Amino acid sequence: MQKKFNLQLAYLRKKKGITQQTLAEVLGTSYQNISKWENGITMPDLTTLLVLSEYFGVTTDQLLGLTSIQEDGYLEEKTDTDEFWNEKLPYLIRQQKISWNEDYFEFLIKNVWGIKEPVDVLDLGCGYGYIGLSLLQYLPEGSTYTGVDFSANLLQYGEKLFREKQLSAAFIQADILSYQSSKRYDITMCQGVLRHQGTSEPILKKMMELTKKNGLIVSMDINREIELDGIYIEGMNYQKLCNRNGSRKHWLAEYENGDRDYAAAMRSAHRMHQLGIRNIEVRLNDKVSFFSPDQADYEENINNMMEFNSLWYKEPEQDVIERLMNHGMTRIEALAYYQRGQEINDFLKDNPKTTVTWLRGKLITFGRK
Ligand SMILES: C[S@@+](CC[C@H](N)C(=O)[O-])C[C@H]1O[C@@H](n2cnc3c(N)ncnc32)[C@H](O)[C@@H]1O
Repeated sequence: MQKKFNLQLAYLRKKKGITQQTLAEVLGTSYQNISKWENGITMPDLTTLLVLSEYFGVTTDQLLGLTSIQEDGYLEEKTDTDEFWNEKLPYLIRQQKISWNEDYFEFLIKNVWGIKEPVDVLDLGCGYGYIGLSLLQYLPEGSTYTGVDFSANLLQYGEKLFREKQLSAAFIQADILSYQSSKRYDITMCQGVLRHQGTSEPILKKMMELTKKNGLIVSMDINREIELDGIYIEGMNYQKLCNRNGSRKHWLAEYENGDRDYAAAMRSAHRMHQLGIRNIEVRLNDKVSFFSPDQADYEENINNMMEFNSLWYKEPEQDVIERLMNHGMTRIEALAYYQRGQEINDFLKDNPKTTVTWLRGKLITFGRK
């Protein structure tokens, strides 16, 4: 606690543009005392804490580092920007490897959607075109794939990949919401896009606009609540693994601040229904991963699981705690959340032969225009 207070005090003083001497004069103390507080050697008494919080216009919780000091109390994740996704190519490649059973695409195309004639597919927020690569192998010959994304890096990689595989596709760099086309598609889809928007409605409306009458509108997204219950690690307490600590507050803060929606998958059918989309159905992607040490990619898959569940951080602990606090958690909740991740990491390191089941809960929601 003392360690955090000293950082907050130094931060607030510098932000106000005053010296230790000036602050000492305001409080009627010596600058040596201020220096000791800021170096974490001593703490001021309770009365001085109250004066300090009034002087800097923050709560005592903020001064002590129990709640965030950010002026607006919330920092956006920025997952709806091209700057964010331009850096995410390796992450997306790693993620797809454990997202789908490829044969499930065949099942959807042939058994669920009954596609027998060539179709024009539009993929909004296509990334490097993973969905296109998966679908084209099962779609009737003559079908076309068009991907729209605002990330130049992802599109560039997609173009190269399709060229190498001698598959034809059109990749268009544009923001989905301002994308205009006179062409109308048989199938308009998006994967992992609605979850990153404050609200799904504008993109669903765009999907409707770009789809032919009676065409198919498909959204595929993971639901965080389901995903969090979906990790089983042999030897660990399952209830403890499912413990959400502060995650619910985290998700709610993102949702209430219009940043992104952890439950977009669960809401999609309802939003589609409200927009007048017909014959709505929801399916669950049937991928469940089982990792065992006899598999060559065991370690890689375990690392991916930890990364996707934010259980393993590349930033220093202090930065993670601060970020979590800017997403509605108290310091104590943020610490508990961080420590849970550390605990799982430590367990996996100490038990390199343990087995893991991971169910992600990706919903596939679709209907007709
Ligand atoms: C989680 S990734 C999924 C990528 C791809 N659909 C896949 O399944 O591999 C989300 C994608 O949506 C794109 N995206 C998000 N919002 C967008 C917008 N408003 N306009 C264009 N692309 C967007 C991002 O650049 C990123 O490629």
